[in-house]
Amino acid sequence: MANFRVVAFGRRDFDDMSYRQFVFREALQGDSQSAVILEKISYVKGEFKDASSYRRLGDKLSSVDAKEFKKCSNKLFYLAVPPVHYEVIISELSLSGLTIPCGGDLGWTRVLLEKPFGSDLETAKRLDLLLAKHFKEEQIFRIDHYLAKESLQNILAFRFSNSIFEPLWSRKFVERVEINFFEERTVAGRGLFYDGLGALLDVGQNHLLAMLSLIAMKKPKDLSAGALHKERAKVLGRLKIFCGQEGVFRRAQYEGYRSESGVAPDSEAETFFTVAAAVLNLRWRNVPFLLSAGKALNESKVEIRIIFRKDDGRLNQNELIFKIRPSEGIAIKFFAKKPGLGSEEIEEKILSFNYDDDAGKNKASDAYEKVLYDAVLGDQTLFASTAEVSAAWKFIAKVRGHWKQAPLKTYKKGSRVEEI
Ligand code: BG6
Repeated sequence: MANFRVVAFGRRDFDDMSYRQFVFREALQGDSQSAVILEKISYVKGEFKDASSYRRLGDKLSSVDAKEFKKCSNKLFYLAVPPVHYEVIISELSLSGLTIPCGGDLGWTRVLLEKPFGSDLETAKRLDLLLAKHFKEEQIFRIDHYLAKESLQNILAFRFSNSIFEPLWSRKFVERVEINFFEERTVAGRGLFYDGLGALLDVGQNHLLAMLSLIAMKKPKDLSAGALHKERAKVLGRLKIFCGQEGVFRRAQYEGYRSESGVAPDSEAETFFTVAAAVLNLRWRNVPFLLSAGKALNESKVEIRIIFRKDDGRLNQNELIFKIRPSEGIAIKFFAKKPGLGSEEIEEKILSFNYDDDAGKNKASDAYEKVLYDAVLGDQTLFASTAEVSAAWKFIAKVRGHWKQAPLKTYKKGSRVEEI
């Protein structure tokens, strides 16, 4: 903690003092216990396109190195900006020489980027070429904060540490997989960012496909970043549109979306979608993966439901549910005899585990805490690789092609998904 500094760089008119006040109010929400971090934060005002701004940033970083650390420090450049600014910032950062490591073990430089990486396969490739010009792959950290969520990391641990589930993990037992990403929040306050994307690119291309890859991938040969990236990319590379489920495809926008600040008055961006995907391999043939996401819905719930096939002649259908939000945990839906003399009735029961129940003992880490921690350690396991990003864009291109047949509908704020 002692040898740690945050130097914020932005266009807004702050100085160190006013920026700290802003962080105290908005991020720390007035929590005076966390306020000790404030003295570690400073602010450099600058324009993304202006070389002299980067010189000022460089001066600030050098003065911290010279006066406080008395050595060349490691530097993590975190681009928390809309993706349209990546190109200019990466180029300017490099031109300014700030990304050059000091050499030796100390003074590494790394760059953290937020999803989505590009807006289609072409732009993603261009971004990769640009990054490759200035950084080695081990310096690049592509954030998909869902990969860093405790409950997502747990999917592989759960699958590969419990011998009773993995044998069921195929078309033989699984009827379908549903990945639901429902949010009550609207896009208010983020209209400008969101309108350039729509739900499919905001969460579909990244978070939903990350969840799908963890459910459908093969067991990696070990838990190294390379082995995990390889298997996640392999399964994403096998994604196709699920034929025969055309009725499932939906695109819709909530009423009032076009009046949100930053949104174009004639915007065609979807705020809700459902897509049916197929994984073209032996294990998953004919198993639909139904991906749905939306804003301004009646509930906030992110979950993955593995729905098992029905037993012959019976109606009971077991489910395994990975709960991601609001609470994180795992639930199993099973059936048991209703207690009572002479009763033969079967009733549905739930076995469940919630991370919150373990709070204090094993508190789940926040996804962004984990992202930053791993980037500092240089561990790329929970970040997206180039191969995964390309495979995801190829699938998204298929969805966009298919969507031509799915006209944009509208729905009322607070709708249930079934009503859309
Ligand atoms: C972000 C999306 O990546 O994830 C947002 O841009 C979405 O639109 C958010 O609301 C959800 O993340 P979390 O961690 O709050 O579930």
